[in-house]
Amino acid sequence: MNFTLTEEQEMIKQAAKDFAHAELLPGVIDRDEKQQFPSEQVKKMGELGFMGMMVDPEYGGSGLDTLSYVLTMEELSKIDASSSVVVSVNNSLVCYGLESFGSEEQKEKYLKKLASGEIIGAFCLSEPEAGSDATSQKTTAIDKGDHYVLNGTKNWITNGNSASVYLVIAQTHIKKGYKGINALIVEKGMPGFEIGPKENKLGIRGSDTHSLIFNDVKIPKENRIGEDGFGFKFAMKTLAGGRIGIAAQALGIAAGAYELAKNYSKERRAFGTEIANHQAIAFKLADMHTQIEAARYLVYKAAWDKDQGNNYDISGAMAKLYASQVAMETTVEAVQIFGGNGFVKEYHVERMMRDAKITQIYEGTSEIQKIVISRNILKN
Ligand code: CAA
Repeated sequence: MNFTLTEEQEMIKQAAKDFAHAELLPGVIDRDEKQQFPSEQVKKMGELGFMGMMVDPEYGGSGLDTLSYVLTMEELSKIDASSSVVVSVNNSLVCYGLESFGSEEQKEKYLKKLASGEIIGAFCLSEPEAGSDATSQKTTAIDKGDHYVLNGTKNWITNGNSASVYLVIAQTHIKKGYKGINALIVEKGMPGFEIGPKENKLGIRGSDTHSLIFNDVKIPKENRIGEDGFGFKFAMKTLAGGRIGIAAQALGIAAGAYELAKNYSKERRAFGTEIANHQAIAFKLADMHTQIEAARYLVYKAAWDKDQGNNYDISGAMAKLYASQVAMETTVEAVQIFGGNGFVKEYHVERMMRDAKITQIYEGTSEIQKIVISRNILKN
């Protein structure tokens, strides 16, 4: 076992940290308040190679390993989870899905631009009545010979308006259930494709979340990913890796809030001494630190499994389940340590507490992660 990062991984982690402090921190409170998408910051992250980190350089990516991606997600999320979710969805759902399962033509046409950050993508699985129950797709893609006709609504789509390319999951052969589902590449601006209103959210308010409406959208057959009926497996295989990205985001939110709370407790004085000298606060910090380290090992192990070519369904699910729980608990305790200051926006921890919650919901709720984990342990 080797817990040491390589020189390259250390450099990437430092680059992400420097970027987060220089470019994400300024304006993060304002963007949260105004629900403003971090367009400039996303553009710069593309220039730094953060938008297609694991994609082969042949397709415009950085050709890095999953651990480097996780380290980047962690550092960005310490400062701004609204920006890091854009990175997560583009890398681990959209780029990964296209690179692993797309045709050569699809990679040439879409992946190159997505991996270089020239454009960003969205992953569209959830529907008003198909969130956790993902096989119950109501959006239809009816086969018309050389094209599909897409109809339906998708909900809570990250990068909903800012994306240019959308990977849309839809039912083609209704009688075949999940075996009749397809994944289609849809471009913004295709006739009949409408972006619904922006959601007014509790957290990650800088990211743009929309519903999407498809009304007789004509999608060429060559935009289908994989064989006919591969769409549900495509979604599941892609989400398995996406969960590692969100686990890293949760880890970063937790670690960021912990660092702020620790520093504050060494400055803030009460009863004649810094509050860190009171055991009530010191023990909170000890618990936070221990839980964050435990979450970190689960997240890094899941990334390692993916890089080794091991199955990472269970390690990714465990990492997301635990890291998101730690993110929630740590941020609540960070607000408590900050006391009255924790409740006001300028100290950042209240935003982190709001941002933490979504990590227990998107890319599979905590309850769904428990389904994945329990099914995996019980089948052996
Ligand atoms: N890899 C490959 N295949 C998989 C798989 C995986 N990880 N997981 C399931 N499958 C396959 C199964 O093997 C099965 O196929 P076979 O019959 O050929 O073996 C098929 O998929 C159906 O699987 P299940 O019978 O297990 O299906 P289920 O109805 O019981 O549901 C579930 C399984 C795990 C609960 C799934 O529905 C699920 O993951 N739900 C949550 C969906 C989710 O994560 N949504 C997040 C939205 S995306 C998002 O949030 C992005 C964002 O914007 C940030």
